Amino acid sequence: MSNFESEKRIESAHPLHLRPQTEVTMRKIHAAITAVGGFLPPDILTNFDLEKMVDTTDEWIRTRTGVSERHILKGEGKGTSDMGAEAVKNLLEKRGIGAEEIDLIICATVTPDMVFPATANIISDKVGATNAWSFDVGAACSGFIFALTTGASFIESGRYKKVVVVGGDKMSSIVDYTDRTTCIIFGDGAGAVLLEPNEDGLGIQDHILRTDGSGRQYLHQKAGGSVKPASIETVQNKEHYVYQDGQPVFKAAVKGMADVSAEIMEKNNLSADDVAWLVPHQANLRIIDATANRMGLSNEKVMINIQRYGNTTAATIPLCLCDWESQLKKGDNIILAAFGGGFTWGAVYLKWAYNPITA
Ligand SMILES: CC(C)(COP(=O)(O)OP(=O)(O)OC[C@H]1O[C@@H](n2cnc3c(N)ncnc32)[C@H](O)[C@@H]1OP(=O)(O)O)[C@@H](O)C(=O)NCCC(=O)NCCS
Repeated sequence: MSNFESEKRIESAHPLHLRPQTEVTMRKIHAAITAVGGFLPPDILTNFDLEKMVDTTDEWIRTRTGVSERHILKGEGKGTSDMGAEAVKNLLEKRGIGAEEIDLIICATVTPDMVFPATANIISDKVGATNAWSFDVGAACSGFIFALTTGASFIESGRYKKVVVVGGDKMSSIVDYTDRTTCIIFGDGAGAVLLEPNEDGLGIQDHILRTDGSGRQYLHQKAGGSVKPASIETVQNKEHYVYQDGQPVFKAAVKGMADVSAEIMEKNNLSADDVAWLVPHQANLRIIDATANRMGLSNEKVMINIQRYGNTTAATIPLCLCDWESQLKKGDNIILAAFGGGFTWGAVYLKWAYNPITA
């Protein structure tokens, strides 16, 4: 029901058609996550597999990053949209609704199926979301929280009732498996959430999002865009792979993610005791630890699955929500935090909107 429609209902229900101010002002619409879905491709690449491919060790990878294994999407013609579509189907099944009920699909990704059209359009087609419009958001590892905040504003405006936000990346398509500094980090996967209006104060409460474009020099893909279109030379020079200068990215990520997470707590008068969960982007266990320490949170309040999935870029946060869904309770204060290429970073504060579904 739109803002307009719900105002009309109260108006006509009230004697003399007077509209009490209190009733109107109490009905703020929040965008609440009402279902989550995820997909991980079945093939697994372990640290021991990587030991055979580059000069590295399982011990180095685990102690420096926290990763033990990651999932890889294999198969001719398979792309990010295939994983995203599976995540959306999973979500629809859990929520018990059909794809035709979706109003809008937003997909965060840096590994779109094609430069155009948007991967969200392809997901929409694959799941049968015939009434939805769709577009992509590109904010690298912060992509999911940027897309979530964008999707939330369409719900908060009263304009739409069901917005699906997908975070998905087939990082194996842009990782150089001869470069030991990057191939150890990334994995493939997709996660999705459904946003619906909530008038009981649950759902997304606040966000802080930031961008510093000067950081692009440390983390990017050199070729394939309009500045350097693909050529034989760009392929020979391996310029279609992830380029990362690890140290400056690491330093900026530690500061960026910790600063913004502490700031959103302060802004909303939240103490460490008030926060039920931190859902951090899974780039490096040391970055996650630094953020949790700064927030004063103990380990058991931090969702960590980097050991099994690696850094799945836009998929890390929704995949965490999927893995922990059965432990989340209505009203839980949750902070999502991310840092990524761009540089982009930010935090979202939300109140979880539903209790675990019991069979
Ligand atoms: C990439 C990253 C794991 C590297 O860890 P690090 O502790 O910074 O390591 P360094 O880059 O300083 O390298 C230390 C040494 O290990 C070596 N090394 C790098 N990768 C290695 C590997 N896979 N196995 C073994 N040795 C490795 C380096 O060559 C270097 O050797 P040197 O001292 O002889 O030159 C870390 O910088 C990182 O996580 N950065 C941020 C990543 C990130 O967040 N990216 C995505 C943003 S969303």
